[in-house]
Amino acid sequence: MKAAVVYSSKTGFTRQYARWIADETGADCYELKQAKRIDFDRYDAIVFGGWACAGSIRGLKWFRANMDRWKGKKLTVFSVGASPADLPDIVTTLSKNFSQRELEQVKLFYCPGGLNYEKMSLGYRLMMRAFVNALKKKKNKTRAEERAAEVMSSSYDISDKAYIQGIAEGLKD
Ligand SMILES: Cc1cc2nc3c(=O)[nH]c(=O)nc-3n(C[C@H](O)[C@H](O)[C@H](O)COP(=O)(O)O)c2cc1C
Repeated sequence: MKAAVVYSSKTGFTRQYARWIADETGADCYELKQAKRIDFDRYDAIVFGGWACAGSIRGLKWFRANMDRWKGKKLTVFSVGASPADLPDIVTTLSKNFSQRELEQVKLFYCPGGLNYEKMSLGYRLMMRAFVNALKKKKNKTRAEERAAEVMSSSYDISDKAYIQGIAEGLKD
């Protein structure tokens, strides 16, 4: 199966996952900016990876706009965020970015990335700081919220190649 992986990444975690998938499966790998000039007719499978931003998947608009053209191809989307892989309902939350009809065409995955404040733009850094501060100030926090506020105060990396397994297996013929 000839596959293409397209990704949108700001601080590098989604790019890393895209490259792991491409290395493992022999797929071609493109950044979203390049992908707009690529002819995807020659691919049997298209994988899109976008970073998670307030529950949405960055770059997904491009992928969704092309889905009708890609009927018959194997379609996969993964999103990379700062949340741990075992966060309950993370895939359910991400699936809200699709219509019911689209969900029937696409396999959806979540891969944990992390936070990299050093590589984040100033605007995003300020948004994250505001989010973490609001969480810290929240009254009656759950244990998970307390832990999240602590962890998210600085950069961390929870990415792992093992999380691509389900995606890579789906691309085998
Ligand atoms: C403004 C903003 C919103 C974010 N929203 C989410 C989110 O809803 N869920 C999540 O798990 N991570 C969220 N994150 C964290 C990023 O998705 C995470 O750092 C991801 O690894 C970035 O991927 P990249 O390195 O490919 O850009 C957010 C980060 C920023 C800056």
